Amino acid sequence: MSTMIFQVLERDLPSLPPSVAVVLAELGDPTTIDVQLVISELEKTPQIGENVVKIINSGYLKARRKADNIRDAILLVGIPAARNIILAVLLKILFPQRGAQTVEREAFLRHCIGTAVASEMLSGCVELEGDCDRHRMITYGFTHDIGTLALDYAMPFTLQRIHALAKAEGVSLLEAEVRVLDNITHATVGEWVSNYWDLPRDISNVIKYHHTPRQAQENREELLVIHLGDLLSMNYYEAMVATGHTYKFDPALLEILGLTMKQVEEIQEALPEKVDRVYKVLDMGGLDAVSL
Ligand SMILES: [Fe+2]
Ligand SMILES: [Fe+2]
Repeated sequence: MSTMIFQVLERDLPSLPPSVAVVLAELGDPTTIDVQLVISELEKTPQIGENVVKIINSGYLKARRKADNIRDAILLVGIPAARNIILAVLLKILFPQRGAQTVEREAFLRHCIGTAVASEMLSGCVELEGDCDRHRMITYGFTHDIGTLALDYAMPFTLQRIHALAKAEGVSLLEAEVRVLDNITHATVGEWVSNYWDLPRDISNVIKYHHTPRQAQENREELLVIHLGDLLSMNYYEAMVATGHTYKFDPALLEILGLTMKQVEEIQEALPEKVDRVYKVLDMGGLDAVSL
């Protein structure tokens, strides 16, 4: 089964539109970005630029004023923050909606936003040693489940079986994936997509390890935060898609990050309202890479 999955993905996944490939390659290493090149490529793809401006103007980044266009927006917040927003928008649009979709796009987008918001809230409660910045949580939130998007795009009926199994047996989507996909999950599928598109290293790392953060070699603390943020948002998501499954939080992981269960529960409680607010600002449902 797993070999077949990768053959189907190779056959069906869109190749990167040239402008997206240029911007992705340029943003890969945050220390060597040619800002003018990024701006001029984004000016050629107004769909992307407008959505980046929308997020920057949404208040999420607390910029001191509203931006008028993509050039203005990037110069306003600086390339490190803009990099993460641009990457999030780029990767979101790489999977245009196709016919028989299993993943309900609104619920999925809410889960991605929820992962970003919950991880960002968690990162505010812990002292991370390494380089953890809250803006990266947007990118990670939007990209961590790219494997699910790829399955939805290329193998919607397989994904439908996964959802049906989870609902019928009251197991998590993750467990249903392992059973239907022959011992692999969307994290492995996502890793394949990361390699196929040569995604930036920090993003590939999150895609591969967000369910197994202890196995990560790099940015392990940051991955623990994303992992917990994802679990919080998965509880929110699984309730939306009605599998009825609830994920438990490993006390040992909380201890590593110096978090209490009370803090986690408070974030869980606050999440739906915060996601709602961001969702209304970000509604990017109309984006479609085909027209780039
Ligand atoms: Fe995931
Ligand atoms: Fe997730």
